[in-house]
Amino acid sequence: MTSLGNSAASRDIACVLHPYTDLKAHQRHGPLIVTHGRGIRVFDDQGRSYIEALSGLWCVSLGFNEPRLIDAARRQLETLPYYHSFAHKSHEPAIELAERILALLPTTMSKVFFSNSASEANDTAVKMVWYYNNACGRPQKKKIVSRIRGYHGVTVATASLTGLPNNHRDFDLPIANILHTACPHHYRFAEIEESEETFASRLAAELEALIEREGPDTVAAFIAEPVMGAGGVIVPPATYFEKIQAVLKKHDVLLIADEVICGFGRTGNMFGSETFGLKPDIVTMAKQLSSGYQPIAATVISEALYQAFVSQSEAIGVFAHGFTYGGHPVACAVAIETLNIYRERRLLDHVRAVAPRFQERLQAFNGHPLVGETRGIGLIGAAELVRDKVTRTPFEAADRVGLLAAEVAQDEGVILRAMGDSLALCPPLIITEAEIDELFDRLARALDRTHQELSRRGIVAGTPVIARSPASD
Ligand SMILES: Cc1ncc(COP(=O)(O)O)c(C=O)c1O
Repeated sequence: MTSLGNSAASRDIACVLHPYTDLKAHQRHGPLIVTHGRGIRVFDDQGRSYIEALSGLWCVSLGFNEPRLIDAARRQLETLPYYHSFAHKSHEPAIELAERILALLPTTMSKVFFSNSASEANDTAVKMVWYYNNACGRPQKKKIVSRIRGYHGVTVATASLTGLPNNHRDFDLPIANILHTACPHHYRFAEIEESEETFASRLAAELEALIEREGPDTVAAFIAEPVMGAGGVIVPPATYFEKIQAVLKKHDVLLIADEVICGFGRTGNMFGSETFGLKPDIVTMAKQLSSGYQPIAATVISEALYQAFVSQSEAIGVFAHGFTYGGHPVACAVAIETLNIYRERRLLDHVRAVAPRFQERLQAFNGHPLVGETRGIGLIGAAELVRDKVTRTPFEAADRVGLLAAEVAQDEGVILRAMGDSLALCPPLIITEAEIDELFDRLARALDRTHQELSRRGIVAGTPVIARSPASD
């Protein structure tokens, strides 16, 4: 891209390999270069401002310029910039953060293992499940069940858990011993007139059939996000986790709750497990643990797992797992300060106060000709765009309607993610009602412009009425 000269954009194209990007398109378009942020907004190198409606990657709960987090990092860098937890070493920030996490979790858990990313946290969970069953003398019980459209990361094991075709295709995944069961998306996968409860019963029965087919003595764990995020923001149907957990219990299958998006207030409770009644054996978390300011993740285990690890490591001589930067003191210090701010500013109360406005404005999009379904809880949601609302017919994948809508939204000053044709929203938890209105006013314009562009291309018919805020006229 010579026309960009020696700009940051052309240097980017020359040198940076971008994750989750159409690499060919990137050669043409180049990047959006973000320079700084303030509150719920980020700014590009042309001085344009955007509402960050996905909190970066579902993580920047406290907005983009929280001075206390910067001070916490600086203080820790000045005190102890690095240390680790291998071979009986420790440091105060890791100890305090582990205590704080255990105190926040809704069910009694035993130990916290730190890593740097949620992929590592989930990968660790997989290894722990295998280690546990070896310790218990059940070397056959190793299969892990995940869900179609679940998202758990991109390492070899966690990309295998992730139930999205692009994460497997051409990467030679999934690996052995990973199974996928049905996606709990009522709008897409329920039978005609099937209630949420009946749908949930059917999915639980399908899970049980899968476990019985594979052999319960070979199935070790089930992993689930309380609300699926990257799979399109899928809120589970009523009674789903209750019925799924009954099946897991019956067949002695561990539950791993991936709280990476839901954890720390997103659904209106501290953890999604509280919102949906999960009683996990392993919990993984990251993202809002440090408001995204530092890379940190954790895998938290029950006492039963811990006791098995103790006897197994005694037999082998070591629990041979760990990351150089796991529980990095600076990341732990920032996470502790993040939790302090959540408590002092009563962030959960704030989420509960503004979430109804967020959900009301999201649901108002159901009247838009492009929107087949809106769904969400707390401060997370999505609008699924469809070609035909009545028949729920999706657009052709080749039309890339979700990407088009995301581009138009960006032009309107909103950054969001298109998951297929579902537009995902997950704004910083500090968002105010006025900012929620601004976000949805911009999005309404973006949806109308997307509709106009699709009718210009002959993909849909008609011109929509410009959607308005309930409060704006
Ligand atoms: C639920 C969930 N689990 C795991 C991951 C993987 O996180 P990371 O990119 O930190 O490896 C993500 C990332 O979005 C996620 O949403």
